Amino acid sequence: MATTTRRRASFHDLTVSAVRTLTDDSIEVSFTVPPELVDDYSYAPGQYIALRTTVEGDDVRRSYSICQAPVTGELKVGIKRDLGGLFSTWAIENLRAGMQLAVMVPEGTFTSQLVDGPAHFVAIAAGSGITPVVALIQAALAGHPGNRFSLVYSNRTAMDTMFVDELADLKDRYPTRLALYHVLTRERRSSELLSGRLDAEKIGGILDQLVSPSDVDEWFICGPFELVQLVRDTLAERGVAAGDIRYELFTTGRPERLGGQSGRPIVVEEGQAVHTISFQLDGTTATVTSPVHSNESILNAALRVRSDVPFACAGGVCGTCRATVVSGTVDMVENYALEPEELARGYVLTCQSIPTSEFVDVNYDS
Ligand SMILES: Cc1cc2nc3c(=O)[nH]c(=O)nc-3n(C[C@H](O)[C@H](O)[C@H](O)COP(=O)(O)OP(=O)(O)OC[C@H]3O[C@@H](n4cnc5c(N)ncnc54)[C@H](O)[C@@H]3O)c2cc1C
Ligand code: FES
Repeated sequence: MATTTRRRASFHDLTVSAVRTLTDDSIEVSFTVPPELVDDYSYAPGQYIALRTTVEGDDVRRSYSICQAPVTGELKVGIKRDLGGLFSTWAIENLRAGMQLAVMVPEGTFTSQLVDGPAHFVAIAAGSGITPVVALIQAALAGHPGNRFSLVYSNRTAMDTMFVDELADLKDRYPTRLALYHVLTRERRSSELLSGRLDAEKIGGILDQLVSPSDVDEWFICGPFELVQLVRDTLAERGVAAGDIRYELFTTGRPERLGGQSGRPIVVEEGQAVHTISFQLDGTTATVTSPVHSNESILNAALRVRSDVPFACAGGVCGTCRATVVSGTVDMVENYALEPEELARGYVLTCQSIPTSEFVDVNYDS
């Protein structure tokens, strides 16, 4: 599997080449990547793009994982409707072949570090969390004849299961190297272990009976916040090294916070106590002030003076808005994206960081 290089998050308009229904509430959207942008959109399995549009007058952007192993000239994502969700509902109801959409270049670190194989990979995914995992499975099995992949995949019902045919095709193609364990929470399966919620007891049973941690080289977890936490904790209790576990969060499980720190209207009045924020982006420096009482994020303030400041989720999960703090201090409210070594190098998520010193200088180019 390919390794990742981090690049500047930029958007280009790409044409939707196809929209395919996966389940009653999910679609697969394909984009054509023109030859001149092929390098910009090269990606490693497990990475995501962000899509951007205007819904009801608001600039909305959301991240979606790429759901196939790298193919030159094409990008595919799987979008599941989030009940009451702004972008996913809009996409499922409106996206059609031929439309153009602003698409961010691929990003993300939910990728394999065992590039050469042979290795045994295990993924535990729930719902739309399968999307990056499909790309990881395809790439791992095609990448080395000694690679094996075991997937534990939880859904409410068989009808809700995204990419069920693609997984069955992969199983036909790699019968001895791919193990599929479908867990259904609202339907009974013949095995008790594969029926019902993936709670601590069930995960324990799966690790005892289906995938022994001692036989696994790399773990991938993608699903709701609580599931990711539970699996990580259980694996840690079983002695799995943190460095062997990759995880991707789609949300923080705190929807009321999403979007709160991008595009929030703030008026700076004369005489107010302010923080002065300087930031470097694409080689140029800009400065903006932010009222102390507003508790405004650096991202929110920076967007007032430059609309191309990078961000995608605005919720602390994707890492697109990261920058290094060059001088001054900040309070980072949430961080579900930066690794300890990035924190040690001075990176912060600007969508979650509020200045705590009078002057703050951050660098998006670092
Ligand atoms: C790295 C990454 C990769 C991702 N990959 C995928 C993928 O492959 N496929 C996929 O389907 N999704 C993926 N996501 C999730 C995706 O980006 C969106 O978050 C998701 O589609 C929901 O967006 P939305 O606009 O439809 O919902 P939003 O409008 O953002 O709402 C989300 C939920 O919160 C609720 N809500 C909204 N506002 C409030 C409020 N004030 N109080 C209480 N509840 C509220 C809504 O009803 C909804 O259920 C990914 C996310 C990340 C960060
Ligand atoms: S924009 Fe996703 S973490 Fe800040």
